[in-house]
Amino acid sequence: MFTKSISKFLMMVLTINNKNYDIEATTDMPLLWAIRDLVGLTGTKYGCGKGLCGACTVWLDGEPIRSCQVPVLVAIGKNITTIESLETTFSHLQKAWEDLNVPQCGYCQPGQLMSAAALLKHNPNPSDEAINNAMSGNICRCGTYKRIKQAIKMAAINAK
Ligand code: FES
Ligand code: FES
Repeated sequence: MFTKSISKFLMMVLTINNKNYDIEATTDMPLLWAIRDLVGLTGTKYGCGKGLCGACTVWLDGEPIRSCQVPVLVAIGKNITTIESLETTFSHLQKAWEDLNVPQCGYCQPGQLMSAAALLKHNPNPSDEAINNAMSGNICRCGTYKRIKQAIKMAAINAK
C-alpha cells in the first residue's frame, strides 16, 4: 500500500536574541530555514546544508550548533543566539575581525564569529590548541584561518 508522510505545520514561538517571534513551520524544518526565511535574520548563512561547513552556526542555550541540522521543534523554549547579537555582546571580537581585515569573501564569517565567541565565552585566554579545536569545524574556502586565529588572540587581549 502506498503511504505518504505529511509534515505538519504548527504555530510556534522562537526566542532569538532575547526577542520572541511567532512562526508557522513544519516541525522538521531546519532551524536555519526558520531563522532566515521566516524570521528574516539573514546573517546566518547556508553553506553545505549537511553539517559539514559551520556557516550556519548559531548558539542554542549558549552552545554552538549547526542550525541546518537541528529541527526547529528542538529549539522551542530555548534561547537562540545569532550573529546579529554579537555587536552588543562581543563587540571586541568584531572589532578585532575588522582591525585585522579577517574576511575575504565573507560568506563563512558569521559562523566563524559564532564559534570564536563561544570559545572566548568558555575560555577567555585560549591556547593555539584550544583555538584549533574550537574552530576546526568551520571551513573557510578563502583560507582566512591565520587571520581568524590572530583576531581571536587580539580579542582575548583586548578583553582584559
Ligand atoms: S550549512 Fe550547516 S554546516 Fe554547512
Ligand atoms: S572568507 Fe570566503 S569562505 Fe571564508
